[in-house]
Amino acid sequence: MSTRSFLRLILLAVGASIVAMMSWGAARFALFSSEVGRKREIPEETLVRLRGDDPVHVPDAGVWLAKRGGDSEVLALDDRCTHLGCRYKWNASPGQFDCPCHGSSFSIEGDVTRGPASQPLRRLSILRKPGENARLVDAPRR
Ligand code: FES
Repeated sequence: MSTRSFLRLILLAVGASIVAMMSWGAARFALFSSEVGRKREIPEETLVRLRGDDPVHVPDAGVWLAKRGGDSEVLALDDRCTHLGCRYKWNASPGQFDCPCHGSSFSIEGDVTRGPASQPLRRLSILRKPGENARLVDAPRR
C-alpha cells in the first residue's frame, strides 16, 4: 500500500468517525428530549401526598410537581431543560432548579433565572378523573 493510499484511508476513517459521533449526538438529542417512552400519568396518591415547599420529581412521568398558592393548586413542570433537553434537578438551598449540563437555572415557577436557556420550563396541566391516574398534557403557553 502506498503512502498516499494509507493517508487516504486514515482520512476516510477519521471522517467516518466524526460523522458517526455527530449522528449519535443528534439521535440522542432527538430521542431523549422527546416524549418517546414516557407514560404521562401520575398516581392519585402522589398528588395527595404532596406537601411542603420542595417540589417532587416523578421520573416515570417526566415531571416535577409542586404545591403552589395553597393546597389546591399543583404546578407541573416537564423535567427536561428547555436549552438542550437535559434533566434538571431541584436545589433546595437557593430554592431553584439547576441544570447540570450547561448551568441554566429556573425558579420554582419555571422561569429562567440564568442561561443559556432562554425559554421557561414547559408547564403541564393535570387532568384528573375519579378512579383513574391523573394525566399530564401540555398547558397553554404563559
Ligand atoms: Fe440545560 Fe443546556 S441542557 S443548560
